[in-house]
Amino acid sequence: MTSAPPPRGPGEPLRSFGRIKSRAIKPRQAALFDTLLPSVRLPDPAAGPIDPLALMPGATEVWLEIGFGGGEHLAAQAAHHRRALMIGCEPFINGVASALRHIEEGGLTNVRLHADDARAVVEALPDASLDRIMILFPDPWHKARHNKRRLIQPAFAADLARTLKPGGRLRFVTDWKDYAGWALERFLATPGLVWLADEAADWRVAPLDHVVTRYEEKRLGDTDPLFLEFAKV
Ligand SMILES: C[S@@+](CC[C@H](N)C(=O)[O-])C[C@H]1O[C@@H](n2cnc3c(N)ncnc32)[C@H](O)[C@@H]1O
Repeated sequence: MTSAPPPRGPGEPLRSFGRIKSRAIKPRQAALFDTLLPSVRLPDPAAGPIDPLALMPGATEVWLEIGFGGGEHLAAQAAHHRRALMIGCEPFINGVASALRHIEEGGLTNVRLHADDARAVVEALPDASLDRIMILFPDPWHKARHNKRRLIQPAFAADLARTLKPGGRLRFVTDWKDYAGWALERFLATPGLVWLADEAADWRVAPLDHVVTRYEEKRLGDTDPLFLEFAKV
């Protein structure tokens, strides 16, 4: 997933994702792009600010999952928290197809998808609008010359913190030691974020509400998953 970065378009930030399509999408899933996506698509962030509560009036919470892969985690959380609005971002089209299938099969009405870069969505969200942010197993870009493609960079960390409500939580999970250290350093340097760990078990043991992801099951990293949980103060 991290070997061949696509070219950068004019004015675009450096790509933090690799391929955006792999195998052919099955006809039933492809049909969901016409029948389901229009009703669950997030408004285009390029068109202006996004008010999450206008998307689901009465939502008790607003969550954002960045890079949801096949959408298993997003769908499971949405099914557990039906009154919370779940915004998911993922540029990998096969992943979006899979998420659409999960939304349909689960009868989920509280999910909105952005089939592209999450950074534009975060930029379009108001200050203090999110309760939870989940970044689970982001592309590690572990070769030194690729580190600049990592999603977690100081300016993006600051924008994430800006969108969290006071008391809101950000979860970052990786199975690459070096990326855990990289992300920790940058989140700790982000005004308004505090790390909620007291002891090693806090980052070594999955939080109770964690749902194992498809990528996590592949065990491609160089360590067991490391769970970093931050709060907005
Ligand atoms: C290694 S995969 C993990 C997927 C999923 N979270 C899981 O654990 O199974 C990382 C995902 O993040 C997505 N991604 C990378 N950069 C992104 C960005 N800027 N916005 C949204 N998604 C992004 C990639 O397309 C990829 O599907």
